[in-house]
Amino acid sequence: MKFFVDTADVAEIKDLASTGLLDGVTTNPSLMAKAGRPYLEVLREICEAVDGPVSAEVTATDVKAMLAEGRHLAKISDNIAVKVPLTVDGLKACKALSDEGTMVNVTLCFSAAQALLAAKAGATFISPFVGRLDDIGVDGMHLIAEIVEIYTNYDFATEVLVASIRGPAHVVEAAKMGADVATIPPAVLRQLYAHPLTDKGLAAFLADWEKTGQTILGDKSGAA
Ligand code: G3P
Repeated sequence: MKFFVDTADVAEIKDLASTGLLDGVTTNPSLMAKAGRPYLEVLREICEAVDGPVSAEVTATDVKAMLAEGRHLAKISDNIAVKVPLTVDGLKACKALSDEGTMVNVTLCFSAAQALLAAKAGATFISPFVGRLDDIGVDGMHLIAEIVEIYTNYDFATEVLVASIRGPAHVVEAAKMGADVATIPPAVLRQLYAHPLTDKGLAAFLADWEKTGQTILGDKSGAA
């Protein structure tokens, strides 16, 4: 399973990329607004910081303007995935950009029918928003199961990119269902490391080791 981080904060991205576990980045207009810096400058810095796909969303709503924006964004770097909304015009733009060899991430997916359309339009990624479905009392993870089943039935190449993740449980459920990618907020990515028994166990190991008065590098007894 690939891990993308869902942020436009370049410092966060660089820090998480240093773990070697980051496979890509997703941004959206809200995250870019939060970054409060010129859009293309931020994207360029993100593309330099990570090798994997970097999703950059268009803000136009008609196909002609979406294509112009998408082509402009795609020029920034080979790892840009142009993000388009799941609308009729968005899927027309998806088809055209995909045919040109540009990666496309179709976003704001809330139903299996929409995901089916995106795959037929040649999307590289489909982004179902699980947290926002949970927020309105609908089981977001059920949508992931449906999309994985449909894409498997027809061997679609479109990757299921689970978005709007709220906590580690969403990531684990997505992995159990065989989703290809999870785009995870930085705070949730850090939560994945944490378990109280790990902290407790490490503290006990170190306390016992301290009592021996030894250091591993200072021990020459078994050195070659
Ligand atoms: O980037 C798309 C998606 O992950 C947004 O999540 O938390 O705004 O619902 P959220």
